[in-house]
Amino acid sequence: MTIPLFLGAGILALLVLLLSIFSEVVYQFFGRGEKRKLVVLSDDEYRKELDIEGGERLLSLLQNRGFNIPAACGGMATCGQCKVKLHTDVGFYTSVETPHFDMRTRETARKFLDQKIGDGYVRLACQVRVEKDVSLYLPKDTLHVKKYSARVIKKIPITSDKMEMWLKPSKSIQYKPGQYIQLAIPDDFAEEHYKKYGNLIKEACSKLGKEFVPYVPGTTLYRGYSLASVEPDLLKLIVRMAPVDPCMPLEKGGPPCIGPSCIHNYIQEQNLWNFFLGEKIRFTGPYGHFMLKEQPHTAVFVAGGAGLAPILALLEQWFQEGRQDNAIFFLGERRFQDIPTVYLPKWLKWERANPNFKFVPVLSGAFRGDNPAEMNDVDKKCFYNVSEADRQIIKEQGLVDEQGNQWKGQVGFIGPLLRKYLPPDPNIAFYLCGPAPMTVTVIDSAANVLKLKKENALFDDFTGTLTPSVDLLYQKLEIKEKIFSLNVPNADKLIEKISSILIIQLILKDKIDASYDFLKQVRETLDKSPQELESFLLSYKS
Ligand code: FES
Repeated sequence: MTIPLFLGAGILALLVLLLSIFSEVVYQFFGRGEKRKLVVLSDDEYRKELDIEGGERLLSLLQNRGFNIPAACGGMATCGQCKVKLHTDVGFYTSVETPHFDMRTRETARKFLDQKIGDGYVRLACQVRVEKDVSLYLPKDTLHVKKYSARVIKKIPITSDKMEMWLKPSKSIQYKPGQYIQLAIPDDFAEEHYKKYGNLIKEACSKLGKEFVPYVPGTTLYRGYSLASVEPDLLKLIVRMAPVDPCMPLEKGGPPCIGPSCIHNYIQEQNLWNFFLGEKIRFTGPYGHFMLKEQPHTAVFVAGGAGLAPILALLEQWFQEGRQDNAIFFLGERRFQDIPTVYLPKWLKWERANPNFKFVPVLSGAFRGDNPAEMNDVDKKCFYNVSEADRQIIKEQGLVDEQGNQWKGQVGFIGPLLRKYLPPDPNIAFYLCGPAPMTVTVIDSAANVLKLKKENALFDDFTGTLTPSVDLLYQKLEIKEKIFSLNVPNADKLIEKISSILIIQLILKDKIDASYDFLKQVRETLDKSPQELESFLLSYKS
C-alpha cells in the first residue's frame, strides 16, 4: 500500500510542478505585451491611470511605478505586508495568502466576489498577476512613502544582544512616533549568507517546527524596523543581534528563527549588526499607524526585546505632550542583563515625578534557564555598569536589593499581572510591541480580565498573522461567554483547554487556518452538547 501511495503523491507533485513551469512559460512567451490599465485611487479624489503590460505581478507593477508599499519578504507571501484593496475581481486568495487574513476580511472578499456586494476586497499584491484592467485603492499615507538612503552615524550596544543604530538620511524625512521604516538588505550578502548557513538554518527550523523559507537569489529583502526616535531627520532603531550559530541551543541565546520567514530574520539581523559606521544603506518609509490615540484614555505600554523601539517613541511623546491620564509601562525581559539599563533611570524618574505613571519591569527567565530573581555574574556586571547615582535609584524603587544580589521586581509573565495593576476599564488602550508569544498572551489576558476592546489592542503586524491571531482570541472570548451562559459545571476547565490548544498548539505555531477550523468545530460541538465538546477537546490533535 505504501509504495503506490508514495508513487501517487510523487506523480501529483511532479504534475503540479510541471503545471506551474508551463504556466510561467506561457506567461513569459504569450502573457506579456497585452496592454492593460491600472487605476490607483486614494483619498482626496486622488486618481492615477497607468498603462501597463499585462501578466506582471501587482507588487512589482506598483513598486516600479513609485508606489512603495511595504513588502518585507520580497514577494514570497510570508510577511503579509503588501495588502492592497482591489476594486476589481482578480480571483480569491491562493492557499499561501489565507493565513494573513482574518475571518471578516475573508467574508468581505467572498461577498464581493460571489455576490458583488461591497466596493472591493483585500489581497496580497505579491500574489496577484494582473491579467486585466485593474482598479485599486491605496491609503493616502502609502502615497507619501519614499525611497531614501542614509548613513549609519552611531552604534551603541544597549544589552549583550541589542544595540541602538542611528541613521542620518540623505534627505529630510518626516515621521510620527510609533512609525516604522523598511531597510533593504544587500542582495549579495543575503545570497552568500544563505549559501553558508542555509542548511543549518533549515535544520534549526525543522527542530523548532517552523517553516523554512529558502532565499531566492536576486530578491531584495526588506526588514521592518520601528523608529525609537522622535526627532525629525534623525532615526534611531533598536536592532537585535541574531546568534552566530543558527543551531545554537535555545538556552544559550534564544531561538535562531521566529515565524515562517525565519531565514530572512536571521540574515537581516546578522547583517544589520555588522553594518559599520558611515555605511550607506537604503530604506523606504515611513509606514504604519501605531500611534497614540488622541482622546484621553488609560494607556498600557507593553514592550519586550527589540519591540521596545516604538514604545520608547510613544512614551517620549506621552511625556513631551504632558499627558495626565493614567499610564503603565510593562517591560518584559528574560533576565536583568536583558534590560537596557541605559534607559532605566529615565523611566524610574518619570515614575517618581508622575503619580499617574507606573513602570513595571517583569523578568520571565524564559530561554535563559535559571531563576531570574537570583542575579548571576552577567546580571551583576550589568548592574554595576550603571552609575552609582542610578544604581541608588534602582534600589530605592525596590527593583534590586541593597547588596545587588537579588532582583526584587516582578518575575514571570505580564499577562497574569494585569489584574494586580489595573481594574477593568472601558477606556483603556494597549500599545504592544514584542515577541508574538508575549503580545498574544497579554492581549488574551487583557481581553479576559480587563475587558479590553479589540479595537483598542494596538500593534504593528510585522508578520501579517498577528491581526488574524487577535481576531481568533476575541472569537474565543465569545465562546467563553456562551459556555458560561450555559452554566456548564466544568466551564473553567473547558475554557482553559480551548485556550491552551488555540494559543499554544495553533496560533503560536502560525497555524491560522487550522485555528479558525478549530474554533468552528468547538462551536459546532458545543451546540450539540458540552459533553460532546469535552470529548472533542480531549481527542483533538493539531
Ligand atoms: S511581499 Fe507580499 S507577503 Fe511579503
